[in-house]
Amino acid sequence: MNSWVFCCVVFVAAARGCSGQCRFPPSLWCSSFEIAEKCQVTSQCKEWTYPSINEAKPVNFTLYYESLCPDCRNFFEGQLNLAYTKVGGIMNLTLVPYGNARERQIGRKWEFECQHGKEECVGNIIETCAIYLVKNITVYYPFIHCMETTDGLPEDAAAKCASKFKGIDLDKIMGCSKGSLGNELEHQMALQTNALQPPHTYVPWVTLNGVHTEDIENKAETDLVNLICQTYQGPKPAGCKKEENNQLHSCQRN
Ligand SMILES: *[C@@H]1O[C@H](CO)[C@@H](O)[C@H](O)[C@H]1NC(C)=O
Ligand SMILES: *[C@@H]1O[C@H](CO)[C@@H](O)[C@H](O)[C@H]1NC(C)=O
Ligand SMILES: *[C@@H]1O[C@H](CO)[C@@H](O)[C@H](O)[C@H]1NC(C)=O
Repeated sequence: MNSWVFCCVVFVAAARGCSGQCRFPPSLWCSSFEIAEKCQVTSQCKEWTYPSINEAKPVNFTLYYESLCPDCRNFFEGQLNLAYTKVGGIMNLTLVPYGNARERQIGRKWEFECQHGKEECVGNIIETCAIYLVKNITVYYPFIHCMETTDGLPEDAAAKCASKFKGIDLDKIMGCSKGSLGNELEHQMALQTNALQPPHTYVPWVTLNGVHTEDIENKAETDLVNLICQTYQGPKPAGCKKEENNQLHSCQRN
């Protein structure tokens, strides 16, 4: 570690002020991932000292769902949200809103038929357009999560949710959802869903690093945080720790 980098790390840590849990001299701060986390210099250490730590790939987790299915909505509200909040940093989440829908081609357009009626198709396409237009999951996840946990018509939920979060252009998303772009994008979701091996037989249906088994599905529905943590090959982030950290976050003398 050259001295400039060292100073930088020391400076940033000092600027954070006291940290009751960091009981290590600065020379050891980057010596392990755990110590770096305690001393709140993880990102500095990652960047400067052990870039190899970044080599662990995030766990691919894909959710195949349909917008109005009650079990899908429960999954969004419970396991998925917990995992996204606690261990989102090690999870590459992909959302595929299509589920048990069917499609057929009429002229140059696709006609969709959804399990929970026309409104469900509307919801699927709005969410598909949000994913496509917003691109950054950090921005569209809260919007889609909000839609999936808001009762009422998808169009109303979209308006309500768009006003709650930054970076969501409701007009653009609704325009997309009603036009040929949304139609084509939803067809892509259909292709992705229909390509599943084994084919899905219910929703929510998940794949972990591309694989679906009953065991993976059960674990995802009961303790997704743990499933992601167990699958991740890199050092476990704080969100993976079982016990909540009850220690006071106040200044303590070493
Ligand atoms: C996740 O998917 C991408 C794209 O298919 C692949 O390159 C990557 O290796 C996968 N990650 C893991 C952990 O399997
Ligand atoms: C995340 O998943 C998408 C597909 O769902 C894939 O294209 C992309 O490569 C993955 N990214 C990483 C870092 O694994
Ligand atoms: C995604 O959005 C978040 C929150 O606004 C932002 O911090 C992050 O830099 C964005 N990522 C990309 C790749 O633009």
